[in-house]
Amino acid sequence: MQLAERVERISVSATLAVLMEAERYKARGVDVVDFGPGEPDFQTPERIKRAAIRALDENRTKYTATAGISPLRQAVCDWHARELGSSYQASECIVTVGGKHAIFNAVNALVNTGDEVLIPSPYWVSYPDIVKYAGGRPVFIPTDAADGFCLRAERVERAIHQRTRIAIVNSPNNPTGAVVPPDEFAKIFDVCKRRGVWLLSDECYSHFTYGSAKPYSIASLPGSKEHVIIAGSLSKTFAMTGWRLGYALAPAPLVEAMTKLQSQSTSNPNSITQYAALEALTGPMDSVATMLAEYARRRTRILESLSAIPGITCAEPQGAFYVFPNVAACLKKNGAGRVTDSGEPDTSTVARELLERQHVAVVPGEAFGAAGFLRISYATSMERIEEGLRRLRQFFGSGS
Ligand SMILES: Cc1ncc(COP(=O)(O)O)c(C=O)c1O
Repeated sequence: MQLAERVERISVSATLAVLMEAERYKARGVDVVDFGPGEPDFQTPERIKRAAIRALDENRTKYTATAGISPLRQAVCDWHARELGSSYQASECIVTVGGKHAIFNAVNALVNTGDEVLIPSPYWVSYPDIVKYAGGRPVFIPTDAADGFCLRAERVERAIHQRTRIAIVNSPNNPTGAVVPPDEFAKIFDVCKRRGVWLLSDECYSHFTYGSAKPYSIASLPGSKEHVIIAGSLSKTFAMTGWRLGYALAPAPLVEAMTKLQSQSTSNPNSITQYAALEALTGPMDSVATMLAEYARRRTRILESLSAIPGITCAEPQGAFYVFPNVAACLKKNGAGRVTDSGEPDTSTVARELLERQHVAVVPGEAFGAAGFLRISYATSMERIEEGLRRLRQFFGSGS
């Protein structure tokens, strides 16, 4: 079938492909330990669900303004100011169908054919495809495991060329869990400002930080707003992935352009979800603290256990709910089938074998531009984590 060239440019999310394969195993009754999920294993808090039911009872079932109901746009700004120290007004906020949609709108509102968008690597799978769809060119900025995968301003500077339009920063990062410290973030901002490049900050995991890392937004930096686009989401923070509610904060003319685009594609995000989101953002943050405490416990356990497997090394993630171990040394031990023709570690094959032989689902590093690594999500119960770790030890420890 002849499809439009712009659709041929992109591919189906590699993380979804792995999850789908795991689902097929589960459907056959196989006991899969699923380290794949990119979503909280917690339920949406009761008060948020109640607000949705109330909205239904009150017949809040009509179209809303494209950029979202006014109280919600204001609530996003107030919440962001309270939690992350920014100072946006409702006219600088658009509510979107998830954080991905906020990024999609922003990129499509700014990128012309041939423009370059800087993407720190390893990267969340959707960035390159969103950029390609818009006709842009993804340019990857490497980050190093030895440096905790931290994005460095000097590398951003080096990657900027005449056609660079946007630099994406994702902190905490999916898949590495890396957090860019505020001083480095400020340096990255300075580079972007000086070189006339938009800084698109994906704050989807903002509230999941560990140790000395704290939730931080570059929009709290005085004078930054003019050059910054914030993409945020309620998906992870409030365990609301299926509700589909995100937002962007940006200068009003850009918000207007994104709203125009949204008006000709999805129109407003679901009306019921918007009322639920209003409750989420105006109520207490205790559910976030509960999730964070549990994630912290799991993270410690996984790191301790993985580091005891010979050949596996793992940078300590400062945020999100993933660990991203390097398993390349394990693969070299038994050679064939685990190295691609170009000599790269073949972690796609490893992930497939892990699923087939140990019934453990992980996402191979290739999906994030980082062969040799596996992404392990700890958004699953401690009991399942223990079982999964036992299977991982068996798989890697036995040299299989
Ligand atoms: C880094 C990152 N950004 C954005 C998103 C988008 O999430 P959503 O569209 O559910 O808000 C995700 C989801 O996995 C993510 O990992």
